[in-house]
Amino acid sequence: MGKSRINIAIDGHSSAGKSTMAKSLAKELNYVYIDTGAMYRAATLHAMKERSIVDTSVNEVGLRAGLERMFLSFRYNPKTEQSEIHLNGNNVEKEIRTMEVAQKVSLVARVPEVRTKLVAIQQRMAEGGGVVMDGRDIGTVVLPDASLKIFMTADPETRAYRRLREMQNAGKKVSYDDVLENVLERDRIDSERAVAPLRQSDDAVVVDNSELTVEEQFNFLVSLARTRMADPS
Ligand code: DC
Repeated sequence: MGKSRINIAIDGHSSAGKSTMAKSLAKELNYVYIDTGAMYRAATLHAMKERSIVDTSVNEVGLRAGLERMFLSFRYNPKTEQSEIHLNGNNVEKEIRTMEVAQKVSLVARVPEVRTKLVAIQQRMAEGGGVVMDGRDIGTVVLPDASLKIFMTADPETRAYRRLREMQNAGKKVSYDDVLENVLERDRIDSERAVAPLRQSDDAVVVDNSELTVEEQFNFLVSLARTRMADPS
């Protein structure tokens, strides 16, 4: 019996290492990795460019109307060996990773029309199977029938410490206390949002990686995936 191309949903807290895991899992299985956070970030950039968001004030009517002029796609870049997000034909992979976008994205991610549009695109991309998708609502809303759902987490102190190291390595001056506060704040916003809040799907495998190395976690996920690929029901 041949192996099926299943869909894999990875949700969890911010800075739990979802994208690192999702990327390496997709590479190992020869699947497509879809970063839904990048889509919410690109939608935010679009709203900023159209001036539907200025500082922290959102013109929701303008933002909703602007969705008709927003075209998102992922295109493979052989140089980086990653698929990169494009907004209206322009590669915005770098532009969406700024602090400014990060600070505004929760204002956009909570608008129901934005979620409806992005969820529809995400569902289309997963239609043929063979996708590893990470986000906050993948196992619950986007792909409720995914053959494998993973909910990744780690205690807030561990996540804050990992982020601190990442930011220090990138040459940014930040304090541990500020990073921890930001991690806790993002958990709160993600979990308390009225539309599609972050919550664990009943059938998700919970992976708390506080005490796991990247390699241990990767091996565990690959074996889970291979088991489900052999018997996806
Ligand atoms: O994973 P990330 O930090 O790049 O996500 C950016 C933001 O988008 C984050 O505030 C949560 C939101 N998001 C969401 O609401 N739903 C998703 N499926 C993915 C991300």
